[in-house]
Amino acid sequence: MKIYGGKTYEQMSEKAASVIAAQVIENPRSVLGLATGSTPIGLYGFLAKWYEEKYLSFKECKTVNLDEYCGIGPDHDQSYAYFMRENLFSKIDILPENTNIPNGLNPDAAAECARYDKVIEDLGYADVQLLGLGNNGHIGFNEPAPAFVPGVNHVKLTDSTINANARFFASREEVPKSAYTMGIKGIMNAKKVLLVANGTGKAEILEKALFGPVTPEVPASVLQLHRDVVVCADEAALSVIAKKHPDAVEWFR
Ligand code: F6R
Repeated sequence: MKIYGGKTYEQMSEKAASVIAAQVIENPRSVLGLATGSTPIGLYGFLAKWYEEKYLSFKECKTVNLDEYCGIGPDHDQSYAYFMRENLFSKIDILPENTNIPNGLNPDAAAECARYDKVIEDLGYADVQLLGLGNNGHIGFNEPAPAFVPGVNHVKLTDSTINANARFFASREEVPKSAYTMGIKGIMNAKKVLLVANGTGKAEILEKALFGPVTPEVPASVLQLHRDVVVCADEAALSVIAKKHPDAVEWFR
């Protein structure tokens, strides 16, 4: 595992974007596993900028997103499909037919999970899978649980996640209560995992995930068992790790 630390959100976003850019340059037909949330917005900005400046093309790439809320469609401004269009897809030359995201409007959970599992498998898993980190250690929407769930699953969101996401909705009541998410198998089969985190709110959980016991109660801890993980974080998110494991971080500030 490599842990890169930048002083600011801007610096960590640029570093994380450069990991994805290197992948696309190495293989223009890469499968990019993507995430939503506030953390990757900056890195998507860098990818869009580098596309604009003609350093990068995504024309032959395919993408596979981690998750989608249930019960809201791609035109809802809080759906992850909408988020991806707004923050990345509309700003680069990716072909819409090469993008994949669970269908939150499919009421048949078993069918949707099976469909998306097949999508991930048929793509041959991601070359690089981007992950944010939930306040409770979730990755994708794999919430703390008694066991790791391998396949795409229909997950009931925890109160902590609903509270964290309420900031994006008019009221807490409007936050969807469940989601479809890629499971641990899809994430662990990615050839490379890129975990991003910023802000002091992530400092404790980032340390727990990367240095604590591997347990489904902290879903991100499973990444300790992955062969190629790159972490890009800012100084605030690394504050606990920097204290407890000062040699673990490669600072690029
Ligand atoms: C989003 C996702 C979530 C977020 C996590 C962190 O696709 O899978 O696991 O990455 O909740 O969210 P932010 O970045 O908003 O702190």
